[in-house]
Amino acid sequence: MPAPLAAVRLLTPWDVLGIEVAAGVGAAGLVAVALSARGAARGGPEREEEGKGLDRRRFLEQGVLAVFAAALVGLVTSGVDYVVTSTGRSGRVYRLGSAEALRSRLRRSAEPYYDPVGGFYLVAYPAGDLPEAERVYRGVELVGMREGFVALDQACTHAGCRVPFCSRSQWFECPCHGARYSAVGELRRGPAPRGLDRYEVRVEHGEVVVDTARKLPGPAPGTDTTAQGPAGPHCN
Ligand code: FES
Repeated sequence: MPAPLAAVRLLTPWDVLGIEVAAGVGAAGLVAVALSARGAARGGPEREEEGKGLDRRRFLEQGVLAVFAAALVGLVTSGVDYVVTSTGRSGRVYRLGSAEALRSRLRRSAEPYYDPVGGFYLVAYPAGDLPEAERVYRGVELVGMREGFVALDQACTHAGCRVPFCSRSQWFECPCHGARYSAVGELRRGPAPRGLDRYEVRVEHGEVVVDTARKLPGPAPGTDTTAQGPAGPHCN
């Protein structure tokens, strides 16, 4: 994904709301200026003199209406953006390609694999910590971990903000109220009620498949199967 697009994807819903309201107010200003120019162009000096009071009132009314309309559009689009970006487009099955290639990519890179359409991260589960995972996790989560993968929902379990990965600390760090999660999505600090939610991840015919039809609740606070401390300074 190109860097500017990646930056947009990491904006929180409040960033998006601010940008869109600002854009709405800016658009309203442009509409008001256009209406004013059109009013001034209509008729000669006498007509302008006669209708001055009426034009000014109409201009003000139209300006106020334009501001409200633009703000409303901004709020509605922000709401839609919030829902789409915090939940991702769930309910689909994502085929991510060769499991071997993804394992080696995650081993080499200090970043998780991010799917902006599905709204999830694919991270590596360390093989050395599997005995601990076997003690704590069950079912499809454990199946994915045995294959070396965990698929994490991008939404913070506190209030739904998108949680970016901090490459300095190697943790997921929520910019909204400071929740922090380890690289496998287990809650380390902050107000979130549990670790990051996750999806079933399995390997079919050598290919990684993430099924977002059912969101699995993140692990309870205190779950720490990897004992991963921060690798460096925190981002938030
Ligand atoms: S939304 Fe993430 S800490 Fe509040």
